[in-house]
Amino acid sequence: MTTELRTLKVIELTKIFPHPAKEETNYPLFAGSSFELTSKKLNFVVGVSGSGKTTLIRIIASLEPINAGEILLDDIIVHRLKKAEKIKYLQKLGLMNQFPSKNLYLNLTVRQNLDYALSLYTSITKEERENRIEEISSVVDITGILDRKTVLLSGGELRRVGLASSIIHKPKLLLCDEPTSQLDKENKERVMKAIQKLNKSHKTLILIVTHDHSIIGKNPMYRIEERRIKKCQ
Ligand SMILES: Nc1ncnc2c1ncn2[C@@H]1O[C@H](COP(=O)(O)OP(=O)(O)OP(=O)(O)O)[C@@H](O)[C@H]1O
Ligand SMILES: [Mg+2]
Repeated sequence: MTTELRTLKVIELTKIFPHPAKEETNYPLFAGSSFELTSKKLNFVVGVSGSGKTTLIRIIASLEPINAGEILLDDIIVHRLKKAEKIKYLQKLGLMNQFPSKNLYLNLTVRQNLDYALSLYTSITKEERENRIEEISSVVDITGILDRKTVLLSGGELRRVGLASSIIHKPKLLLCDEPTSQLDKENKERVMKAIQKLNKSHKTLILIVTHDHSIIGKNPMYRIEERRIKKCQ
């Protein structure tokens, strides 16, 4: 997979979750919002808790169906992918979960987790896998904890391992859900530096949803407000 993914177009998107009480009205998320992201810079979406940030990521990752609109990633029609195409699509994606422990096996070491994550995507040799683990570990600064059991990691270490496991297969599209949540300044900088590097050196298309305004800088920013996604800068 050498070709980059350049443009993500979200067109007139609406998502409606069934209300748990049947007699209640369902309010649509995103209410027909449209926007376009490119790989030129990092892209940010902010919004209060419950506004739909994680849902948006799951929709773009083809993991959540939509009620109206279109999700187009270059020539991939994401919302209409069939099972076999979806597997290929998921192999191009990196998904950094809001709760990193959900994507990791806590009883395995960091190295074993990364080796497993890599084996899901590529059939490369053991030696190549070892090299890739060393390479990614130095990018996110976890070389010193590779042989530690994942359950013993600190919050910042766990988040960096979560990032490593979502980028180890060199995804073309990286979706990060609150990547700096609960991190101190130093760890935030480490995580953001690794994400920036991926964007600059591999031209990865990146979407970050967050509460954390300190990491946005001069990158394009969208806000989910009154259920719509609006461009802010
Ligand atoms: N599977 C589901 N079924 C029903 N409602 C859901 C489902 N998933 C999410 N929701 C609801 O959709 C809304 C958006 O949820 P989402 O998790 O996307 O918010 P968020 O912006 O990521 O919040 P946070 O900042 O707290 O992580 C919430 O009201 C949530 O309860
Ligand atoms: Mg969320």
